Amino acid sequence: MTYGNRNPLDSLDPTAMKEPKMPPTAPPVDQQAAARFAPARLDVVDLTASYRGLPAVADVSLTIEPHRVTALIGPSGCGKSTLLRCLNGMHLMAPHATVTGQVLLGGTDIYDPRVNPIEIRRRVGMVFQRPTPFPTMSIRDNVLAGVHLGRRRGRGTHDDLVEQALMRAGLWKEVRNRLKAPGGGLSGGQQQRLCIARALAVEPEILLMDEPCSALDPISTLVIEDLIKEIRETCTVVIVTHNMQQAARVSDTTVFLNVEYAGVPGRLIEAGPTEQIFNAPQQRATEDYTSGRFG
Ligand SMILES: Nc1ncnc2c1ncn2[C@@H]1O[C@H](COP(=O)(O)OP(=O)(O)O)[C@@H](O)[C@H]1O
Ligand SMILES: [Mg+2]
Repeated sequence: MTYGNRNPLDSLDPTAMKEPKMPPTAPPVDQQAAARFAPARLDVVDLTASYRGLPAVADVSLTIEPHRVTALIGPSGCGKSTLLRCLNGMHLMAPHATVTGQVLLGGTDIYDPRVNPIEIRRRVGMVFQRPTPFPTMSIRDNVLAGVHLGRRRGRGTHDDLVEQALMRAGLWKEVRNRLKAPGGGLSGGQQQRLCIARALAVEPEILLMDEPCSALDPISTLVIEDLIKEIRETCTVVIVTHNMQQAARVSDTTVFLNVEYAGVPGRLIEAGPTEQIFNAPQQRATEDYTSGRFG
């Protein structure tokens, strides 16, 4: 399989789906990690997110299961990024942004005014499209940059924390001898893994990733995809991708959003096990999109 090839028709290639998909109740691969890391379930209930009163994505209800990778797919402008940013409250940081409905993290609505938004963003972290390390800050300090936001769990020293986060992000071996070098000196793929390490250092329960590979070369993309599958052992992952092969490769569950035409909000069309969404979708629009017949 050629990973550089982004022809959507390739998603129909059965070899693209050869990895066995775990059923929804399957336990994570590493039981020890599961005992230590127990991410809360995320339930989205009738969520509508608007900018200046205009809904960008409307009436979304969705459950994101712990220890799973959920991919959000759909055409540009259908509201994938907006929905993703709603999952940790970041949507409300945009000017004139509003939200109705609920996002329940372990049963608690993150939009309840009594809930501390900083604590929510510690529990639900975010990795962006372009790697955003602090370029002049050392690799070590980049990893620790978010740690002051959250409670430390009193396990080990910061050195341990840095090593663990870099190990989980698959970067430790490459940077262990230059932790004091500036983060900006790393390659693009390494910088993105550094951002993943920074996000993981605060031990989030859920990691949101908005097209995390779209600025990377195919090899770095594969490294990050492998990483995502491993992160699932300790953390729930929600990833936005415009690359359907990537969704097929990394996700357990796929959510298809669509927008009929510009000016109306995007809507959730279909969500289910990735294999089903790609091979036996229930909606015509899903099939048209995943097979490249869209439009
Ligand atoms: N900060 C913003 N202010 C106003 N409108 C926005 C903003 N961000 C996104 N939108 C609009 O919301 C809709 C959904 O955008 P977005 O969530 O970025 O979609 P996607 O990630 O699927 O491409 C689009 O119509 C877009 O123009
Ligand atoms: Mg987007």
